[in-house]
Amino acid sequence: MNQPLRAAIVGLGPRGSGLLPTFSMVKEISITAICDFDEELLQKGAALLAERGIHPKLYLDYHELIAQGNIDLVYVITNWNSHIPVAIDFLRAAIPTATEVCGAASVEACWELVHEQERTGTPFMFLENCCYGRNEMAVLRMVREGVMGHVVYAECGYCHDLRSALSNPARRRVKNNLRRNGDLYPTHGIGPVAKILNINRGNRLLTISSMGSAALGMKEYFERNDPENPLRKENYACADVTSSLIKCANGELIMMRHNVFLPRPYSRALTIQGTLGLFSEEKDAIHIDGLHEHEEWEKMDSALKRYEHPIWQNYSASEADGHGGMDWLVMQAFAVAVRDHAPMPIDVYDAATWMSLTALSEQSTALGGMPQIIPDFTSGRWTERLPEDLF
Ligand SMILES: NC(=O)c1ccc[n+]([C@@H]2O[C@H](COP(=O)([O-])OP(=O)(O)OC[C@H]3O[C@@H](n4cnc5c(N)ncnc54)[C@H](O)[C@@H]3O)[C@@H](O)[C@H]2O)c1
Repeated sequence: MNQPLRAAIVGLGPRGSGLLPTFSMVKEISITAICDFDEELLQKGAALLAERGIHPKLYLDYHELIAQGNIDLVYVITNWNSHIPVAIDFLRAAIPTATEVCGAASVEACWELVHEQERTGTPFMFLENCCYGRNEMAVLRMVREGVMGHVVYAECGYCHDLRSALSNPARRRVKNNLRRNGDLYPTHGIGPVAKILNINRGNRLLTISSMGSAALGMKEYFERNDPENPLRKENYACADVTSSLIKCANGELIMMRHNVFLPRPYSRALTIQGTLGLFSEEKDAIHIDGLHEHEEWEKMDSALKRYEHPIWQNYSASEADGHGGMDWLVMQAFAVAVRDHAPMPIDVYDAATWMSLTALSEQSTALGGMPQIIPDFTSGRWTERLPEDLF
C-alpha cells in the first residue's frame, strides 16, 4: 500500500471549506497543509478538520507553503482571477496542481497557463466536477458505444438562480457580474460536452458567437425583495441570459447558455443529439431510434440500468460526497493520476480551451455576436492526440 500523498488546499471560502469533508474521504491523500490569507477562514477550516482528527500545517501565504517544499500536490480553490497566477507559481515549484473551475478574464492568461505547464512539465488538472456527473458519464458511455449514432448537436449551460448569492456586495463574483457581459461560467456546461466530442483529441472548438438578453433580473429582484441593498442602484452589465453558438472542426454545433439572474430551477441543460437519438437533461430521458416508439421518451432511471458508466458502477455514496458524488470523483481522479504518474484526465488544454470561452464570449457580445476564433491551445497536436476517457 502506497503512503497517501501529502496534499495542500489553498482557498477556504465557501467552496474550499465545503470540500474539506470530501477531501478527507479521498484515501489517496492526507491533508497536510491548508492556506487562506483570511485568518478567520483558515482557523475555521482547521477546526473542521480537527473534528475529523486531521491536523494540517496552517499558512496565510501560499508562497511560504511552496518554500517549505513538503507537499506532493495542491488543490487551488481561490477565486476566478487568482486561479491561473496561483497555479503557475505551484507549477514552477514542480508541485502537481489542480484548480477549481472558472472562466478566464483573457485569452492571454490561458496561453500563459499552457506555456508554463509545457515548460515545467508539472502535472496540471482542471477540477471540472460536472464531467464526472452521473448522467454526463452515462451519456459519454452511450456515445462511445454508438447508441446515439454520429453526434451532430449539443446544448449545455449553467442555469442557476443565483439572485440571492449575487446580491451580496461582499462576494467577488458579484463584481464580475456587475462589470462583465458574456458567459462568465462556461465550464460546467462545455466540459462534459467537450469530453463527449473529443475536443483537443481529433476535434476542436473553432469559433464562438454570443449574444445577451436584457439585464433586468437583478433590478426587479432588489425592488421586490431587498430594496435597501446598496447594489439596487447598480446596473448589472451581464445579460440575464447569454446564448453562445460554438462550431467544431468535425462539424458539430454547440448551443451554450449562461442564465443566473432569473427565477428557475437548476439545470446544466445538457442535450446530446446524434443520428440515432438523443439525451435531454431537461426531460431527464433518452430517445433512440429502434429502441423507442415515435415520440416516446425513456426516463434516465430506467436507461441507467443499461448505460451506467463503469466509474459510477464502482462508486459507493458517502455523506461527504458533494454534488451527488462528482466532487469526490474529480478530487480523487487528480490524486490517482499524480500517484500513478498518469496523464491528467482533464488537462491544461481542456482548461485553457474551456476557460477562454468567457473572454471570447465577452468580445463577441461586445461586437454584436461577431464570431471569435477559439485558439488551438494544443498548437496543432489536436490532430494527433487520441481520444482518452476519464478515469
Ligand atoms: N465546481 C463547483 O461545483 C464549484 C462550486 C462552487 C465554487 N466553485 C469555484 O470554486 C472557487 C472558489 O469559490 P468560493 O465561492 O469559495 O470563492 P471565494 O472568493 O468566496 O473564496 C475564495 C477563498 O480563497 C482565498 N484566497 C484567494 N486568493 C488567495 C491567495 N492568493 N492565497 C490564499 N488564499 C486566497 C480567499 O481569501 C477566499 O477565502 C471559484 O473559482 C468558484 O468558481 C466551483
